Amino acid sequence: MPTIHVTGRDGEEKPVSVESGMSVMEAIRDNGFDELLALCGGCCSCATCHVHVDADWKAKLPPMSEDEDDLLESSDHRDEYSRLSCQIELSDDLEGLKVRIAEED
Ligand code: FES
Repeated sequence: MPTIHVTGRDGEEKPVSVESGMSVMEAIRDNGFDELLALCGGCCSCATCHVHVDADWKAKLPPMSEDEDDLLESSDHRDEYSRLSCQIELSDDLEGLKVRIAEED
């Protein structure tokens, strides 16, 4: 059961423990962060689950798909640490992952 660290738009960081196999989006959404809309429910078609991954973790995540890359292009707040949190599946390898919920588009 990995624990990840989520920083909300208010700048507060909170540890979140979830089952392996859940997505980072589900972990955030189910643990009291209302600002992560995740409107498409994880189908990689809305980009409202945008997060910035901590610099130390960027290279440890699976590469993004072309669809994820295209969708992130629609965000004014994209940077080199941007990911769609519904596309990152949690496992024990990601214990300690840090993400920050992206600014609202
Ligand atoms: S929840 Fe819609 S793209 Fe991630």
